[in-house]
Amino acid sequence: MTATLLDGKAFAAGIRARVATHVARLREDHGITPGLAVVLVGEDPASQVYVRSKGKQTVEAGMNSFEHRLDTGVSENDLLALVAQLNADPAVHGILVQLPLPAHVDAGLVIDAIDPAKDVDGFHVSNVGLLGTGQKAMVPCTPLGCLMLLRDHLGSLSGLEAVVLGRSNIVGKPMAQLLLGDSCTVTIAHSRTRDPQEVCRRADILVAAVGRPEMVTGDWVKPGATVIDVGINRIDAGDGKTRLVGDCAFDSCAEVAGAITPVPGGVGPMTIACLLANTTTACCRAHN
Ligand code: GUN
Repeated sequence: MTATLLDGKAFAAGIRARVATHVARLREDHGITPGLAVVLVGEDPASQVYVRSKGKQTVEAGMNSFEHRLDTGVSENDLLALVAQLNADPAVHGILVQLPLPAHVDAGLVIDAIDPAKDVDGFHVSNVGLLGTGQKAMVPCTPLGCLMLLRDHLGSLSGLEAVVLGRSNIVGKPMAQLLLGDSCTVTIAHSRTRDPQEVCRRADILVAAVGRPEMVTGDWVKPGATVIDVGINRIDAGDGKTRLVGDCAFDSCAEVAGAITPVPGGVGPMTIACLLANTTTACCRAHN
């Protein structure tokens, strides 16, 4: 392997430590404790793991964690009523409704019911619009974490060719906006892109966020490129066990890339660290 490993785990630990220091100061100097409410609907195993991890890290940072677990069959109205209650609660500075939601619930309606000032996921249309117009917004946590890793490794991103593979509202689109904000030349490639390999091979920065295990191989990567792998896919390891892999075939991409994030230990830990940072920011803005 020739690529530099971008250690998201260590970077995220640094962010969490800074957040914890900030939180301690807010409590000591102002008597304020940031609070994050996480709403989980149903029993999706992956979502349960994420929510448990978010709650644990929130408490470890010295913040209040409010967990709301609702039955899969909860009505849209009951979910909207809970969001309204959290919006009105002064102890809650950040609200996160874990996605995906069950099919009978209109996720867009629920997200847009969240007070944009408490929308620590940055998914509310107001925050999407603010980000798209270069204004102060709550920025979605995963793309924000990717941007931090890129800036840390590359310094200025200005003028670089960036390709985002994937067009989701959670990662692909906001990632593209952030890279554009840093003056990259940005292309979004997706399932209908005619020759995604050729498009990706142009990238100085390649962000893979498609949710397809090891889809990107070394022959998709420009020599020396910085590769950010957002994928977290659990695959059959062949021995009755499973293992986590990214959207990039790590060994083959690492032979060509200049730098690459591992899975696990790359982008994943950055997401929750940025969530804690966003919650602290929301708290400070609420009490400015
Ligand atoms: N599901 C997968 N990623 C996310 C995320 O970043 N936020 C929320 N709310 N749900 C998710």
